[in-house]
Amino acid sequence: MKKLNIAIIGLGNIGTYLFKYLKENRKILTKKNNCLPIIRYVSAKNKNKKRNIKINKNLWLNNYLDATKNKNIDLIIELIGGAEGPAKKLVFEALKNKKHVVTANKALIAKYGDALSEIAEKNSVNLEFEAAVCGGVPIIRSLKEGLIANKISKIYGIFNGTSNYILSSMDKQNKSFKEVLDNAKKLGYAESNPSADLNGDDVSSKLKILSSLCFNSFLNDNIYVEGIKDIDKIDIDNANNLGFKIKLLGFAELVNNKIYQRVHPTLIKKDSYVASIDGVLNAVIVDGKPIGQTVIQGEGAGPTATTSALISDISSILRGNIKFPFSISSKERNKLKFENIDDRTFSAYLRFEVIDKPGVLSNITNIFSKNKVSIKRLIQNPDKNKKSSSIIVITHKSKDRFLNKIIKEVSKKKYIKKKPKLIRIDNG
Ligand SMILES: NC(=O)c1ccc[n+]([C@@H]2O[C@H](COP(=O)([O-])OP(=O)(O)OC[C@H]3O[C@@H](n4cnc5c(N)ncnc54)[C@H](OP(=O)(O)O)[C@@H]3O)[C@@H](O)[C@H]2O)c1
Repeated sequence: MKKLNIAIIGLGNIGTYLFKYLKENRKILTKKNNCLPIIRYVSAKNKNKKRNIKINKNLWLNNYLDATKNKNIDLIIELIGGAEGPAKKLVFEALKNKKHVVTANKALIAKYGDALSEIAEKNSVNLEFEAAVCGGVPIIRSLKEGLIANKISKIYGIFNGTSNYILSSMDKQNKSFKEVLDNAKKLGYAESNPSADLNGDDVSSKLKILSSLCFNSFLNDNIYVEGIKDIDKIDIDNANNLGFKIKLLGFAELVNNKIYQRVHPTLIKKDSYVASIDGVLNAVIVDGKPIGQTVIQGEGAGPTATTSALISDISSILRGNIKFPFSISSKERNKLKFENIDDRTFSAYLRFEVIDKPGVLSNITNIFSKNKVSIKRLIQNPDKNKKSSSIIVITHKSKDRFLNKIIKEVSKKKYIKKKPKLIRIDNG
């Protein structure tokens, strides 16, 4: 029987669960993959820390980097996290020393994936990162294997469970952003510092990885990123009244040989598939030829879903399936043009909180016509007690740069009480 010697580096939320899973499911994994996975070594920052797993003393490495030189190790599983520091050192060294690598580290792959992939290819070892994107949703393997026949034109969806939980709870529980965020922290859905989830950075890392797989391109930083920090309950209610939901979506699409990557809150029709994805779930939608549209949804994070993805990667290595980390050889990856979204057209929702006085509305509509943005719908909600008014505009399709020009211009007006809002609409 063939054997694969494994070192797990990092024994936190994910590492401890994976350790237990591999121990308990060794037999079935061996039967399915015709190769025996053996945990030979482990490492973490603090050897003496109390963990909810029993670890044999002789499994501990003296230093985590020893794993990269040890002849008794075939596969290193990196579960430390972070784009720099020990995780980066470990993965570069491991691949240079011809060890297979499995990682759940989206930050590392989004930043150094191209360089790491070149080393893996040169040394004919695997670099697998299914767990880095959308937890248990098997989107990487689907793109590399199940959907290999297809020319992908667009990938989009909900890639961050924390922000989706916040937006859907604000909608369903009639609570403010802050109340919902506090609750998410209590339930363990949001980290104590949730900034990467809320400012769109987490989705951006995942989207970069997905778009390079879809379009056979190198990783590219030209990506528009906007998070959910400025969405308030009023926007959620307005969206509802207009027949929409607000979701934080990531999009990568190929239009006339140019790629657009964007992450932003989006108004989507209430009866669309994506609008029905609530709570911490993730959903990925792929448009390709000849297949048409494919949808995969599931748990996007947490030890159980992430372990499911890690085991899929480990099994691929157990079966001896060495492939290009980004689907095709680095030599064949395209240098496609990545455009920013200024010239993409969107219809949009704009909200202006203004002092309620004559002339304001006509001034705002003049600014729209000056920028050649035509108005599809306008709603004015006056609040007599506060002597203010909320003006909501739904536009016809217009270039993004003109929509932003309107926001910039109106922001400067004395009648504006709050920073105006712009939320793009996706009509599917
Ligand atoms: N949590 C999730 O739901 C989730 C989902 C998908 C992907 N991921 C990714 O999975 C990875 C791990 O996440 P996690 O939630 O398990 O993180 P975590 O709980 O913070 O665990 C990190 C582990 O790394 C160890 N570590 C830190 N510095 C080290 C060093 N210099 N040498 C060796 N070990 C070191 C820590 O050791 P000590 O235990 O001794 O402190 C700890 O065991 C990250 O890349 C994350 O983005 C997580």
